[in-house]
Amino acid sequence: MRKVVVTREVFKETIDFLEAHFDVLSNQEDRLLGREELLCRISDAEGIQTAGSDQVDDEFLDAAPKLRIVANTAVGYNNIDVQACSQRGVIVTNTPGVLDECVADYAFGLMIAACRRIGESERYLRSGQWKAMYLKQMLGLDINGATLGLVGFGRIGQAIAKRANGFGMRVLYHTRSRVSESVERNLNAAHVNKPQLLQESDVVMLILPYAKETHHIIGEQELSQMKSKSVLVNIARGGIVDDRALIKALKEKTIFAAGLDVYEGEPQLDPEFLKLENVVLSPHIGSASEPTRRAMAMAAARNLVAVLANSEKPINLVRPN
Ligand code: GLV
Repeated sequence: MRKVVVTREVFKETIDFLEAHFDVLSNQEDRLLGREELLCRISDAEGIQTAGSDQVDDEFLDAAPKLRIVANTAVGYNNIDVQACSQRGVIVTNTPGVLDECVADYAFGLMIAACRRIGESERYLRSGQWKAMYLKQMLGLDINGATLGLVGFGRIGQAIAKRANGFGMRVLYHTRSRVSESVERNLNAAHVNKPQLLQESDVVMLILPYAKETHHIIGEQELSQMKSKSVLVNIARGGIVDDRALIKALKEKTIFAAGLDVYEGEPQLDPEFLKLENVVLSPHIGSASEPTRRAMAMAAARNLVAVLANSEKPINLVRPN
């Protein structure tokens, strides 16, 4: 039987599905495998179901000479050297489509939490500082009537725009290529250049893939173009924002707040973030609702079965750039 490795714990139905087709080496005890141990595990694998935190590079590929497919359990795939895989004839797949609404919900949550100081308010209450309710307590920013600037306007960005319409927000977006007029009309969204988006938005939200071209597209200069009463939300990937520059802007209050689900070098993050009240921090959980994570795990497994068991084309092929 073909050997498939699953690097992190997944739901039981995914293991059952894989076991119907393959000899599965799973990690249901969810031990954080060291690199050496992981590389040993994959030595005779033809397929690997990876988590977004597994680095698939030349070293990884060298350790798995029989490998035919890497099925990433995420829509993003910046953890995978797709070029290196392609050179060795290894197929890469991801899980698009099943997490759009869930991530859009989370983006809204993070935006509201940052604008309305929910994390800071909770810390204040829990530490026993709340003595009375008064008019100027924990003043935040309105969402209703605010301008939302989306950098990136794919499926998730559009799902966020749909929600923004319900909140009475004005929606701007910036992408390299414009979406169709009918999508713009349906979502009440206007395409603008990056400086205009930064200058006019009350909330700048990042929802685009990480790549060389998107490294630090929000840095000191871009942050300085944002309004002093604006909020930056990053639910995309670490590295799109220059975290040092963001920490400086938050400390100096040249922007109002940030909501972050992703960080440069995560799971490590700059400890300076932890000292700031005006940032809401979460550990990359944008797609973490149970139904969505179940759907993602099954989507990755279906790609393994399509390629290795059914000799079909993968359902969600990632092509090298
Ligand atoms: C999560 O960040 C994903 O890419 O699915």
